[in-house]
Amino acid sequence: MKLQGKKAVVIGGASGMALAAVKLLHSSGVKVAIMDLPGSRGAEIGAELDIPFKGCNIMDYAQMEADMREVAAELGGLNIMVITAGGGIGMRTLTRNGPHPMEDFTRVVNLSLNATFNACRVAADIMKDEEPDEGGERGVLVCTASIAAFEGQIGQVAYAAAKAGVAGMMLPMARDLGNVGVRAMAIAPSLFSTGATQGIPEEMVGALTRDSAFPKRMGLPEEYALLARSIIENPMLNGNCIRLDAGMRFAPK
Ligand SMILES: NC(=O)c1ccc[n+]([C@@H]2O[C@H](COP(=O)([O-])OP(=O)(O)OC[C@H]3O[C@@H](n4cnc5c(N)ncnc54)[C@H](O)[C@@H]3O)[C@@H](O)[C@H]2O)c1
Repeated sequence: MKLQGKKAVVIGGASGMALAAVKLLHSSGVKVAIMDLPGSRGAEIGAELDIPFKGCNIMDYAQMEADMREVAAELGGLNIMVITAGGGIGMRTLTRNGPHPMEDFTRVVNLSLNATFNACRVAADIMKDEEPDEGGERGVLVCTASIAAFEGQIGQVAYAAAKAGVAGMMLPMARDLGNVGVRAMAIAPSLFSTGATQGIPEEMVGALTRDSAFPKRMGLPEEYALLARSIIENPMLNGNCIRLDAGMRFAPK
């Protein structure tokens, strides 16, 4: 998909990897809008870049649908949806106080898998009404998994399940949406330097990235944005989850 003049909503766009994607798409001629928590820096960033911001909590599925439709109407349509908003908890299958509570497992799946599916299904519904480009393409969905989807660590059972769900739904989603010219892809980052990980002390970063092949450091938000842009631009990328990990494999802990 050619970027110039396309319309994008970036969920989680007030920080980290999604903010880098906002900036890269914006500077590439895309009409971008940010959706993020009302208390995020979204309003400030929106004002700085002169782009729309919509305060939204992705855990409220019905409201998120209404918000995305409103934002897309403001942009004049939708071709690109990027979502990073999500997260997990550290909890083992058996805790000191008994088995992993179901409500904690469900909360993580609701945030990191179900909300991503909600964003995809609503975005695809809007994208299907776009004019196709010369290749028949109308839209691209870029979701965020994690390498924990493939080698979840001790205490990541809920998070790994949710992210494996994100990775696993890309192929059936791409197959479902092929007839409307919408692609579905996920990015699985290793450890990236973002709002979520900025508090990690330097020596711990060294230990955490020791098993990377090269470079032995955290990924940069801009490196996520570069892959997101490649995915959007390259029509042959579909139905897959790409690891962005410097050759890292998570150890058990
Ligand atoms: N940073 C890493 O090392 C890393 C590695 C693998 C995967 N991930 C995934 O990346 C995503 C986090 O992105 P980041 O690392 O750039 O972090 P970040 O904290 O910098 O950005 C996340 C953004 O999502 C927003 N957000 C969180 N919950 C939300 C909600 N309920 N509704 C709306 N917006 C919400 C936050 O306000 C924030 O602006 C998560 O899905 C996480 O699982 C991160």
